[in-house]
Amino acid sequence: MLEKKIAALLNEQVNKEFYSAYLYMDFANYYADAGLDGFAHWYEVQAQEERDHALMFRRYLLDNGVRVTFGAVEKPDSTFENAMEPLKAGLEHERYVTSLISVIYAAAYEAKDFKTMQFLDWFVKEQGEEEKAADDLIKKMKLFGGDPKGLYLLNQELQARVYAPSTTGPAM
Ligand code: FEO
Repeated sequence: MLEKKIAALLNEQVNKEFYSAYLYMDFANYYADAGLDGFAHWYEVQAQEERDHALMFRRYLLDNGVRVTFGAVEKPDSTFENAMEPLKAGLEHERYVTSLISVIYAAAYEAKDFKTMQFLDWFVKEQGEEEKAADDLIKKMKLFGGDPKGLYLLNQELQARVYAPSTTGPAM
């Protein structure tokens, strides 16, 4: 049995993860329009992972007897001036998601809900990896993005990202 407050926070996180997917598809829209199909592809894969995160939270709630409710997904309001801006917005967003996971973790800790803490452990690790991936993209863009040939090669590198459902994460 999950505490009401914990269940509510986890249910909110379902929405936040779907929003992350929506946001990253919005980034992909921007890059597709700009002709950077590799960048677009990278964010399409990222969006699939975020959808998976949403499903993991949903599954955990269902498996614990909680009636899941879906809220409206917020509209991404991003307008970008250049190809660097989505990357920076992506890092900022991942830091925000990390803060949300921390809030749920802290609530679970306070409630001595060790099961939920254990469930969240994977997300804590995942957030560390996602923040690093977002930061790495910014670094690469700074190094190579200013030169058309460099940008072309970086676009090709990002095109190679392959979506694979997590084999280590919670069930969906
Ligand atoms: Fe599901 Fe990128 O946090």
